[in-house]
Amino acid sequence: MQKAPGPSGTARFARLTQPGPAGRLRLHGYMALSGNFKMRVTSISWETDHIRAFELRSPDGELLPPFTAGSHIDLHLPIGLVRSYSLINPQSENHRYVVGVARDRDSRGGSRYIHDEIRVGDVLPVTPPRNLFPIEESSTSSVLIGGGIGITPIVSMVQRLAEMGATWQLFYAARSRAEAAFLDRLEHYGNSVVFHFDDEAGGLIDLEAVVANGSEGAHYYCCGPTAMLCAFTDATREIDPGCVHVEHFSPVEDVASEGGFLVQLAKSGRTLAVPEGSTILETLRNAGMNPLCSCQQGVCGSCETTVLAGEPDHRDAVLTEEERASNATMMICCSGSKSSTLVLDI
Ligand code: FES
Repeated sequence: MQKAPGPSGTARFARLTQPGPAGRLRLHGYMALSGNFKMRVTSISWETDHIRAFELRSPDGELLPPFTAGSHIDLHLPIGLVRSYSLINPQSENHRYVVGVARDRDSRGGSRYIHDEIRVGDVLPVTPPRNLFPIEESSTSSVLIGGGIGITPIVSMVQRLAEMGATWQLFYAARSRAEAAFLDRLEHYGNSVVFHFDDEAGGLIDLEAVVANGSEGAHYYCCGPTAMLCAFTDATREIDPGCVHVEHFSPVEDVASEGGFLVQLAKSGRTLAVPEGSTILETLRNAGMNPLCSCQQGVCGSCETTVLAGEPDHRDAVLTEEERASNATMMICCSGSKSSTLVLDI
């Protein structure tokens, strides 16, 4: 995947390593960087009535592939679902991954299964960390905004910024104190964290005011529900887009399922017709292929595929405007085609 890595993102890790005997990237003592690996659930903690933190470790005690703040991993569930969750532990830890999982009221099965069925001792395949929401560590200051379960990637970012001695401020909004996870670890940072509980404040957080009070050159980060992300986008409309960072949990556009085009697969030499009502991903699966994917909603980036020719109809929430315009890659779970043929590096 060709996402711009953070200052020490997974792509940088790959460059620091050497191919192992089987051609897989390895760093001595660490688990394999590429491919899935098995991890054991070693503890589960109740953060709120609806949010639990799951700690995962190598069953063999191996060190884990490193990650940077803002990264997520994919959990492969026994019911055939793959779900992405942000890592909430410090990036300096290499012996465990910790994820926060909210039991989604509109769950498609993933979070419900994790809450109801996963127990300490269970072993799950996990995809190594990827970071679509890295911190710009060279910025003079950072303003972070987390809403509800959107606080999860920001928890590790805060830990990293504090560790660096950076200038930062977090605004954490939740419906109520009882529904806010990770309060104890965030209260530890004193005045650097501003809590906003809707029921106590009598309304939603004023993001226009938050952004207006940011210092010159600050970078802004937001993860939360769609309404919060829309308010954040409005509030940052005058800020340099390079200083504005968003992570989505839900789709921003309808999936492209109009069909009516061909996908030419350069590696396999096959050409498939994408019919009306199907996505590219579904078409590949129907043809017996099994491309990497997770959310199937255009928000996790796991299905990002190199485009060799043709013009994609981008519908994801992962690529920046510049990346969309370059048409170098696309998310095949949700995006379609504006040209009659797309040539993909598959
Ligand atoms: Fe998540 Fe396509 S599977 S972006």
